[in-house]
Amino acid sequence: MNIAVLGTGDVGRLLGSGLVRIGHRVTIAGRTAESGRDWPDGPSSDFESAAGGAELVVLAVSGSAALSVAGRVSDHLDGKVVWDLTNPLEFPPDAPMRLSIANDWSLAEEIQASVPGARVVKALNTVNSHVMTHPEEIPGDHAAFYCGNDETARSVVAGMLAELGWRQILDLGDLTAARGMESYLHLWLRIWNTLGHARFNVSVVSAKTR
Ligand SMILES: NC(=O)c1ccc[n+]([C@@H]2O[C@H](COP(=O)([O-])OP(=O)(O)OC[C@H]3O[C@@H](n4cnc5c(N)ncnc54)[C@H](OP(=O)(O)O)[C@@H]3O)[C@@H](O)[C@H]2O)c1
Repeated sequence: MNIAVLGTGDVGRLLGSGLVRIGHRVTIAGRTAESGRDWPDGPSSDFESAAGGAELVVLAVSGSAALSVAGRVSDHLDGKVVWDLTNPLEFPPDAPMRLSIANDWSLAEEIQASVPGARVVKALNTVNSHVMTHPEEIPGDHAAFYCGNDETARSVVAGMLAELGWRQILDLGDLTAARGMESYLHLWLRIWNTLGHARFNVSVVSAKTR
C-alpha cells in the first residue's frame, strides 16, 4: 500500500520505517520536503503532495498542529483511512501537563469532524515511538488499543498492528473511545516519571467469564 506519514518526528520516522519493514511504500512528510530528507527508508515530501499520492494517511504531527495539518490535506482524504497517533498535550509553564481537549470530546473526534470524508482510526498513541514498531522489546503480551467509526478502516489498521508484531490488539469500538486513549496520557507520563524510561506498556488481564 502507498502510505503517507505526515510527521517527521520520532513517531513519523520510526513508524514509517516499521511500515516499510512490513512491505509498504512510505513517503514521509513535513511542512516542506526538507524536514524528512534524511529519513533513510523512502522519499520525503510536503504534507499535501504526500497525502495526495497515498492510499492511507498516518497523522503523526504535534498535537497542537494536528487540526491545521488535517485541514491542509483535507482535499486528499476523502474515503481514505487516516491513522491518527496524535495526542492533545499542552505543557503550560509551572503547571502539570494538560490535555487541550478532554472528557466529552477528543482530538481524534475533532479531526474526524474536520475531515468528514476520511475514515479516522486512533491507534498506538498510548505507547512510545520505539515500542510502536518493536512491541517484542517488552516481555509478554501488552495492549495496542484502537478505535474508529468505520469497521473496515479499523480492520485495516488492526492488520498492520498484527504485522508489526502486536499480539494483544484491542478494538475499543467507535471513535468516542479516543477520549480514554488520549486521557491515558496523564497516567502514561506519571509511569514514565516513576520508571525513568519510556519503553513500557500496560496489559489488559481478564477473568475467563465465558
Ligand atoms: N514521541 C512519542 O513517543 C509519541 C508516542 C505516542 C504518540 N505521540 C504523538 O505523536 C505525534 C508526533 O510526535 P513526535 O514526537 O514524533 O513529533 P512532534 O515533535 O510532536 O511533531 C513533529 C511533526 O509536527 C510537525 N509540526 C510541528 N509544528 C507544526 C505546525 N505549527 N504546523 C504544521 N506542522 C507542525 C512537524 O513538521 P515539520 O516536519 O515541518 O517540522 C513535524 O513533522 C504527537 O502528537 C505526539 O503527541 C508521540
